[in-house]
Amino acid sequence: MAEKTLVITGGAGFIGSALIRHLINTSDYRVVNVDKLTYAGNLESLSEVENHANYHFVQADICDAGAMESVFEQYQPDGIMHLAAESHVDRSIDGPADFVETNLVGTYTLLEVARKFWSDLDSEKARAFRFHHISTDEVYGSLGETGLFREDTAYQPNSPYSATKAGSDHLVRAWHHTYGLPVVMTNCSNNYGPYQFPEKLIPLMINNALEGKPLPVYGNGQNIRDWLYVDDHVKALQLILERGALGESYNIGGFNEHTNLDVVHQLCDALDELLPDSPHQPHKQLIEFVSDRPGHDQRYAIDASKIHRELGWQPEETFASGLKKTVEWYITNREWNQRVMDGSYQQQRLGLGGGL
Ligand SMILES: NC(=O)c1ccc[n+]([C@@H]2O[C@H](COP(=O)([O-])OP(=O)(O)OC[C@H]3O[C@@H](n4cnc5c(N)ncnc54)[C@H](O)[C@@H]3O)[C@@H](O)[C@H]2O)c1
Repeated sequence: MAEKTLVITGGAGFIGSALIRHLINTSDYRVVNVDKLTYAGNLESLSEVENHANYHFVQADICDAGAMESVFEQYQPDGIMHLAAESHVDRSIDGPADFVETNLVGTYTLLEVARKFWSDLDSEKARAFRFHHISTDEVYGSLGETGLFREDTAYQPNSPYSATKAGSDHLVRAWHHTYGLPVVMTNCSNNYGPYQFPEKLIPLMINNALEGKPLPVYGNGQNIRDWLYVDDHVKALQLILERGALGESYNIGGFNEHTNLDVVHQLCDALDELLPDSPHQPHKQLIEFVSDRPGHDQRYAIDASKIHRELGWQPEETFASGLKKTVEWYITNREWNQRVMDGSYQQQRLGLGGGL
């Protein structure tokens, strides 16, 4: 019998599925995965836990207040970890409406449903209840050559995606200050690892390289991101859910700053080593520079000293070890990739603003 029940939104996505696999495999939580199954959601990522007695799935839209009330009513959760979002910057440039709907209206809807549920709980359960909002470092905008994003860095979102995530962060903070809803918040740097939808930089490059297709690097490839292996992220999320201070936000990062070009070079080196007989050797010859993303942020880098100091968390993977695992996973799981690309996405260029 599970000790505690968690509603996890967006559990069929990249990070949500890693979180659910981690919780089901290593803890006693009963997990209720609430996911609409957009193009980015894929239940195959959960096949190893789908028959576990502690795992439940509800297909629903977080903007549907009635459906969310039913979930809370039926499962009586001890907390919610909110990951459901439209998450791809390029798509937000082509079509921001879904981002406003899910990231802002969806988060508002969940906050209201959770608040009503929480306010009816007895005092002990109400004290223990948590609303954990999962967000991104992109809310802070872009850094120059120096400096790091801290929890008190001013918000300056630059893309439709980051603007809607920033708005959702503000809503969550306000529901804590105004209504006392017991929230914790996290802002994380770029994740990578197995089961990431192949429109994002690392899986896109691996898949293109495996097929001998060009590796499209935006601009001059000098934009810097701070990379975190997804399993390190989900361990941090569990820690913050259980021990994070109420109303606080925590930055989570990998201490792994790399230019996009450097990431692609390292991927190519890993592929050269793992596939010595590939006809596409050396994979670096596939690199092609393409026009930059409009408004492309120059540099993101996280100061993760608060979560380290207060909760003792630090990433376990280095970039080299995490990248090797990731490349190996994509090489051995090419069928997963084929199946998630259901026809609506064929590795075409997105994000040039042609969505109107
Ligand atoms: N991927 C990253 O590098 C990264 C970094 C920092 C923060 N985040 C945040 O973490 C969260 C998860 O990111 P991800 O990369 O796993 O995203 P993802 O795009 O892989 O998955 C999103 C999931 O949400 C579901 N979803 C979308 N709209 C929904 C709706 N209206 N109702 C119910 N479900 C819906 C999708 O079906 C999908 O399963 C997001 O909130 C994102 O902003 C991501």
